[in-house]
Amino acid sequence: MNAARAAAAYRRQFGSEPALLVRAPGRVNLIGEHTDYNDGFVLPCAIDRDTVVAAGLADDGRLRSVAADFAGEDDDCNMSSGFAAARHGWADYVRGVAAVLCEAGLAPGGARLAIAGNVPLGSGLSSSASLEIAVGSALARLGGSEIDPDRLAQLAQRAENEHVGCQCGIMDQMIAARGIAGHALLIDCRSLVCRAVPLPSDAAVIIAHSGVRHAHAGGEYNDRRRQCEDAARHFGVAALRDLDLTTLERGGAGLDPVVLRRARHVVTENARALAAADALAAGDLPAMGELMAASHLSMRDDFEITVPAVDELVAVMQAAIGPAGGARMTGGGFGGCAVGLVPRDRADAVCNAIAQGYRAPDGSAAEVFVCSATGGVSLA
Ligand code: GLA
Repeated sequence: MNAARAAAAYRRQFGSEPALLVRAPGRVNLIGEHTDYNDGFVLPCAIDRDTVVAAGLADDGRLRSVAADFAGEDDDCNMSSGFAAARHGWADYVRGVAAVLCEAGLAPGGARLAIAGNVPLGSGLSSSASLEIAVGSALARLGGSEIDPDRLAQLAQRAENEHVGCQCGIMDQMIAARGIAGHALLIDCRSLVCRAVPLPSDAAVIIAHSGVRHAHAGGEYNDRRRQCEDAARHFGVAALRDLDLTTLERGGAGLDPVVLRRARHVVTENARALAAADALAAGDLPAMGELMAASHLSMRDDFEITVPAVDELVAVMQAAIGPAGGARMTGGGFGGCAVGLVPRDRADAVCNAIAQGYRAPDGSAAEVFVCSATGGVSLA
């Protein structure tokens, strides 16, 4: 449906057929939050919500794009003479990806893009990475190359760091590029080595939106990243990935107690992500549940990235799920979604419990969807 909308928007805007359609998925992170930019481990899966880009070459040296989801807002810039900030937020991502592809010699001389998606925005499900990866893959294909997924992810991350201003890690771009249907991926964010972990066939992944939207670029996210870097410097390690809990607990003297708590979250979360990959591979949902509960508390108390509405949503989900599975906040934080992992035969009951037991700050019910794990970027 996104493909049809993107193609229709392309025809409307440019009066011709697109040469290709590329889709890239959003993602839900099962565990391993704010570990990626600490060279650590994450366990996301790509979800069946995506962004589709309809694309065609242009011989006028321009990059023109239109967003079907933003009332047809459009953007127009010169492809080869640098990229200033755009008038529309979404267009910064498009221009940023084009800029890094140009630098890498992978962009076409000119292009037309029409974009349509259904990854909820500002919800911790990586609508931005799905846009970046779809645009990057489409532009590279138009430029004549099929780009390696790891390279594409690195370029897209750079686009977001340098052109959008969010110092994000590489998890979202990696999973959008390399997701595998039916699997979560344990990603080592230092080496980019991925281990595919099958989701148990009797498990359902439930995503519920707190109704609180976050804005990532800058602000709290970048603060957390700086605090992690301060902690790594204090301990004399390249990244918090290189620290274990004993060393952390012994060597904290002289470090700002807030920074110490930030580091404790990262160190314990890395260990949880590794343990979770094994638990998931073994089909052990109760063990996953314990790890997810500990992860949520660590995000709430040590990393301080949850908000009361999300804490409440997670509590409602945990109460409905019981020891058979688990729930936690997912994504960068400060609002957004919770993820639950439950035996499939409990999914309806959990969805009902959320519908009855949770209200967003504005009084509305949570948007809930049961999703399946999909593949990474591909032609649509
Ligand atoms: C955002 C960032 C990711 C990651 C998560 C937190 O989604 O884009 O790189 O840091 O937050 O785990």
